[in-house]
Amino acid sequence: MRLQGECRALAEAVTLGSMSAFWHPFADMHAVQHAPFIVDRGEGVYVYDEDGTRYLDATAGLWYANIGHGRSEVVEAVHRQMERLPAFHTFVDFATRPTLELAERIAAVSPDLGSKVFFGQGGSDAVDTAAKLARRYFAAIGQPERTVFITREWGYHGVNAYGTSLAGIEPNRAGYGELVGDVAIVPYDDAEAVEKAIEHAGPERIAGIFVEAVVGAGGIRPVPESYLQQIREAVRQAGGLYISDEVITGFGRVGDWFAATRFDLEPDMITFAKGVTCGYLPLGGVVIAPHIAAPFFDEPGNIFRHGYTYSGHAASCAAGLAVMDILESEGVLERAVELESEIPAALAGLTDLDVVTDIRSGVGALAAIQLDPDDETLPARAAKACRDAGVLTRAVGGGALQVSPPLVMTPDEVAEMAERFHAGLSTL
Ligand SMILES: Cc1ncc(COP(=O)(O)O)c(C=O)c1O
Repeated sequence: MRLQGECRALAEAVTLGSMSAFWHPFADMHAVQHAPFIVDRGEGVYVYDEDGTRYLDATAGLWYANIGHGRSEVVEAVHRQMERLPAFHTFVDFATRPTLELAERIAAVSPDLGSKVFFGQGGSDAVDTAAKLARRYFAAIGQPERTVFITREWGYHGVNAYGTSLAGIEPNRAGYGELVGDVAIVPYDDAEAVEKAIEHAGPERIAGIFVEAVVGAGGIRPVPESYLQQIREAVRQAGGLYISDEVITGFGRVGDWFAATRFDLEPDMITFAKGVTCGYLPLGGVVIAPHIAAPFFDEPGNIFRHGYTYSGHAASCAAGLAVMDILESEGVLERAVELESEIPAALAGLTDLDVVTDIRSGVGALAAIQLDPDDETLPARAAKACRDAGVLTRAVGGGALQVSPPLVMTPDEVAEMAERFHAGLSTL
């Protein structure tokens, strides 16, 4: 048994940052274990460390804080729900009122008003839900041979079993032995490659394609709308499903509720997370078009044996309802449309710097500051230099820096963001 004094000493050591029990995701723990960067509070587009130093949040946390930090309306809505009932499971016929209401609200802004909504806790389990449901749907309609998924290079679809298997970022799938089978990986921007993959697997074997309308974690790589339309058509003609992974693009990031609504993609499923609660509590899920839900809703005894303890968590759904109120009442989606051109215009001057080779942008409040891809240590050094200059960013696939600020960012704050990036990157 550990003595009380020992426990206190350990806790103090942790507080001082000399050691930590916390294993950070996607981290070289050898490097970061002694020096966590502790974010203490947030307000609008800014966050503060424990010393009170202010940083401009150029990534909206991890692509989620679309309405910005510190919104008391969301906190109060969650508080009210927490006092009443924090959670109750939703298995079989159980439900809570915020769960039902949020599902209705999401269906109402989805491409098809008759859509159904299946909740989980985040993006990775949303991808697993969609992948399992796609295969289960085809089994239910008598086409069990349709098990092949197409996925794209640079694609990031989370880290659960399906998401890892669908990964287009090679290091994310390496070292785990045999992954979920029947996955074909194609270049992210070549529609003919999708057509060839369908031919190669056999059209009758295609279950679907997972698509980020703008590749996110793989380096913020927009594609022409015509590409999205073409691959959607190719998969549909083969009889497979178009699954729009909108964990980043959903809930405002691309200036509409979904990339699927903006580009008229008529997807069979949409995965979402992040922006639905803007990070105030964890939540994610899948929007399912009526024709995919039909075998499960219209016929007795056809059960999707899937779901999580926290599917439709009441307090998370209360956060989602408050977030949707703000997105609607404050014109946040419209602001994202403006940011689509304001951000690249403000960042354009960065290409004068030796370390910056390109700015990728064009769809939504998203941009990548591409650094010299041959210098492997540059992205981490650049992110640190930007932090020291008062702007938070991080490295994404292919050696770029992520720019995906809160959608409530003002023109002055956009200018400040660009200045701070310039100040940080010019020290390299
Ligand atoms: C497109 C996409 N899908 C899935 C995920 C996984 O989401 P989560 O980290 O919430 O599990 C992410 C996370 O960034 C994502 O960007």
